[in-house]
Amino acid sequence: MDNLPVSKSIHPSYEKALGQMLIAGGKRFRPALLLGVVNSYNSLLEEGAMHAAYAIELLHTYSLIHDDLPAMDNSPLRRGKPTLHVEFDEVTAILVGDALNTYSFEVLSNAPFSDYTRVALIRELATNGGLNGMVLGQAIDCYFENRPLQVEDIKFLHTNKTAKLIAASLKMGAIIVGKEKLGEKLYDFGIKVGLLFQIQDDILDVTQSSEEAGKLTNNDEEKNSFVTILGLEKAIGEADILAQELLEELESFDKNLQYELSPLLTQYINRHKTKN
Ligand code: IPE
Ligand code: IPE
Ligand code: MG
Ligand code: MG
Ligand code: MG
Repeated sequence: MDNLPVSKSIHPSYEKALGQMLIAGGKRFRPALLLGVVNSYNSLLEEGAMHAAYAIELLHTYSLIHDDLPAMDNSPLRRGKPTLHVEFDEVTAILVGDALNTYSFEVLSNAPFSDYTRVALIRELATNGGLNGMVLGQAIDCYFENRPLQVEDIKFLHTNKTAKLIAASLKMGAIIVGKEKLGEKLYDFGIKVGLLFQIQDDILDVTQSSEEAGKLTNNDEEKNSFVTILGLEKAIGEADILAQELLEELESFDKNLQYELSPLLTQYINRHKTKN
């Protein structure tokens, strides 16, 4: 993960800036979901699946670097480190984001799978991370600062900015093991996981310190977060309902998949209660 194929150049800090947020690492939740699906059906494919897991993390990391920019959430801290626009400059942060975005598709294009599978993986990541996915969500998130939305619209916003990439991570695992029908079911499940994940993120914004979160918290006042619109108690109530539904839905999957995903999901499904 820390070996980006950067050509030697006269730029003094480009390579360091490119790797910094990847090395800092985060929860790596999305790659873990993908690898969980692959391992539960065919662990021999795990090594190849690392390409796809890495690609998702690259795209996600780009989204965070841009999310923290002054024009977006204006945050000085990410993954316990100063953000790139603070440590280097804004131009560097924008360009590192651009580079990680395109590099994620380069990595996928080189994954050791059939052309059919590679194209399906590229399509999935592009569709969910791009113009009708994460980017649309981010556009709505930023445009509607200080313009309160209805809860249904916030669910649409959260689904796009966060849930689709999480759903895609599960589905990409299913594509790798050749289980397209399972992929559709996992996608719907993943949308719910992702919605819960973002509601929890909204809750943690007010319940965690920046130090605990490794990123600036108490930063959502102008946002259409679940907490700013519903209040903390109701947001926790929504998260509890979704968490319960997900634990029940998990039981409808194959036992081997439940076995792989349970520890990971249980860890995150209740994180709004545990401050992690
Ligand atoms: C943060 O994602 C942004 C959201 C979509 C909520 P993560 O909470 O997965 O961030 P990292 O990868 O662990 O840093
Ligand atoms: C960002 O949501 C989601 C992305 C697509 C990057 P947030 O703005 O709530 O994420 P944090 O709280 O800064 O990690
Ligand atoms: Mg944001
Ligand atoms: Mg943010
Ligand atoms: Mg947040």
